[in-house]
Amino acid sequence: MDVKHETSAKRAKHKNYVALSSIAAIFMLFFLYLMNRSSNLISTSCHGNMSVYDKFKDITFTAEKKCLISEPLQPTFENYDIDNILFNETFKEIAALKLSGAIQINTTVQDMNPSPKEDIEYWASFLKLHSYFEKEFPLVHEKLELEKVNEIGLLYKWEGSDTSLKPMILMAHQDVVPVNPNTLDQWTYPAFDGVYDKETDTIWGRGAFDCKNLLVAEIHTLEILLRQGFAPKRTIYLSLGFDEESSGVHGAASLAEYLEEQLGQDSIYSIVDEGFGISKIADDLLIATPILGEKGSINVKISVEGPGGHSSSPPINGHTNIGIIAKLISLMEDAGFEPEYTPENPVWELLDCIAEWNDSISPEFKDAILKRDVSKHHKDKLLQMLTNMQTFKELVRTSQAVDIISGGVKSNALPEDVFAIINHRIEVGSSIQEVYQRDLAMARIIAKTYDYGLQLENEVLIPKSNNGIIIVSQYGNANEPAPVSPKNEVWDLFKKTIYNTFVNGMDSKSTEKMNFVVSPSTATFNTDTKSYWNLTKNIYRFMCVELPPDALKSFHSVDEHIAVSGHLSTIGFLYNYILNVDEYAS
Ligand SMILES: *[C@@H]1O[C@H](CO)[C@@H](O)[C@H](O)[C@H]1NC(C)=O
Ligand SMILES: *[C@@H]1O[C@H](CO)[C@@H](O)[C@H](O)[C@H]1NC(C)=O
Ligand SMILES: *[C@@H]1O[C@H](CO)[C@@H](O)[C@H](O)[C@H]1NC(C)=O
Ligand SMILES: *[C@@H]1O[C@H](CO)[C@@H](O)[C@H](O)[C@H]1NC(C)=O
Ligand SMILES: *[C@@H]1O[C@H](CO)[C@@H](O)[C@H](O)[C@H]1NC(C)=O
Ligand SMILES: [Zn+2]
Repeated sequence: MDVKHETSAKRAKHKNYVALSSIAAIFMLFFLYLMNRSSNLISTSCHGNMSVYDKFKDITFTAEKKCLISEPLQPTFENYDIDNILFNETFKEIAALKLSGAIQINTTVQDMNPSPKEDIEYWASFLKLHSYFEKEFPLVHEKLELEKVNEIGLLYKWEGSDTSLKPMILMAHQDVVPVNPNTLDQWTYPAFDGVYDKETDTIWGRGAFDCKNLLVAEIHTLEILLRQGFAPKRTIYLSLGFDEESSGVHGAASLAEYLEEQLGQDSIYSIVDEGFGISKIADDLLIATPILGEKGSINVKISVEGPGGHSSSPPINGHTNIGIIAKLISLMEDAGFEPEYTPENPVWELLDCIAEWNDSISPEFKDAILKRDVSKHHKDKLLQMLTNMQTFKELVRTSQAVDIISGGVKSNALPEDVFAIINHRIEVGSSIQEVYQRDLAMARIIAKTYDYGLQLENEVLIPKSNNGIIIVSQYGNANEPAPVSPKNEVWDLFKKTIYNTFVNGMDSKSTEKMNFVVSPSTATFNTDTKSYWNLTKNIYRFMCVELPPDALKSFHSVDEHIAVSGHLSTIGFLYNYILNVDEYAS
């Protein structure tokens, strides 16, 4: 039974953990004792300053849960001052203005952008952003090495004293998506004014959430640590791309290639980049969902080519090439993609957390989640339920969306060539090949049924018939699903750092008592990290900020904004993470 009561920690005053029964408390002490013997992560916080432990004792630690809460991990750095980041009004104002200034520099990218080597003028606003950083973060620019990779990519290096340790990388992107000119008058404040409204504790503007906030937070955190006299053992890189919102070909790709050249494969401790934050999923439940897996993507182009002619005399089978592609699209859409149970998909752990911590979900759903591994009936039912939920349906299967269609030139001429482009987001556990082959199989059915040839890229599989031929090809770049970040000790430390930021009083808009859990999750979209897979398996896409309920609406759209207290949480988390990695990671 989950019972709520106040924590004693002043800073966690409106948050709460679930109380322990005395049996669970004894179990927990025993568990800590065991962990203590096997891990110095725990022992430092238990035997040193006891404050972390004091907070921890208010956390529920229910042994039967699959979705466990970890112990918060607090650094022992002598000048450690998280309060100054989270609760100092003067600092808050300074941090807000630094973010606001960065939003005011319009670093919009388009779908296609010239390389900076060819057209540096195009990137002028980015150079302005660089000067802005120099002015706002003087210590970072005085003490750290800065290389500009492919002219605009920023690579800051803070060299550690022990070069045998794998460096850590913090990422973010400097660019933002365009503001649709037709929506300019719908913005509460102009999109590039970076208005800081103290009354509502909010900063408005394009990039406030995606992701000038993270970009500025990372540099600001280094500035704070430098001022506090921190000297890392482990080298820290900031690697800041500049065309994430188009494809990352100029930015992330060059930065990652450069890092791989310099350091080699599997040379990095961990990477943190933009991603999900913290969501309130029930009245009394906050869930932090770092992304450990990303779906892949592929665009498949299907063309139907065949003889034209006068429309007064259509083909004998009654179908023009447009009709044939319509048949194919209709077949693909009706078939859809089945949901799959792929155990490595992080979404299952997320569902465990929801089932165990969201008291309000239906007993049926809860049962299906928790019994999926012991009963096929429950597993099938779970997949069925998920397919009908907007939030989850695309996390357990490959998606397809026919986004472009073209064909025909004149109302009295039979169309000679038509094509459609289908965008797929590839499920964790599946592959580019698997999806491509599936589309080919659908095309083969239509080719056989209506007597057409079939071609895959340049390879003819069925010769062109009198009716014509169906051609299947890949359009643009494809990405495999990202390797799922393992749940190892690096992930453990990451999680414990989030809990630590929470117990220190991290922002929450909620005034009620809260439970708080951290769970891995999966994203249906890609980030710049797709270029960095060779550098480490430990990639976490996460911003330590509570997502407002309307976040999805303003994301890439009108009235993008962030709570300043959320921005401070992001800085607080990065501050904790850098210190914890330096102190506790091996
Ligand atoms: C832990 O350190 C803080 C200051 O950093 C101090 O106020 C607190 O009393 C210490 N707690 C214990 C149990 O030593
Ligand atoms: C609050 O922040 C300001 C600006 O960084 C700093 O000068 C001041 O000393 C801080 N106050 C406290 C109590 O730490
Ligand atoms: C921002 O920059 C983009 C690209 O340079 C430009 O098209 C757009 O008009 C700018 N927006 C504003 C409001 O200045
Ligand atoms: C958690 O329960 C609430 C009811 O309080 C429900 O509205 C919400 O959708 C649930 N969250 C999830 C992720 O299932
Ligand atoms: C990663 O390494 C593989 C094999 O060494 C190489 O083929 C691939 O291009 C690299 N990926 C990236 C994104 O650089
Ligand atoms: Zn982004």
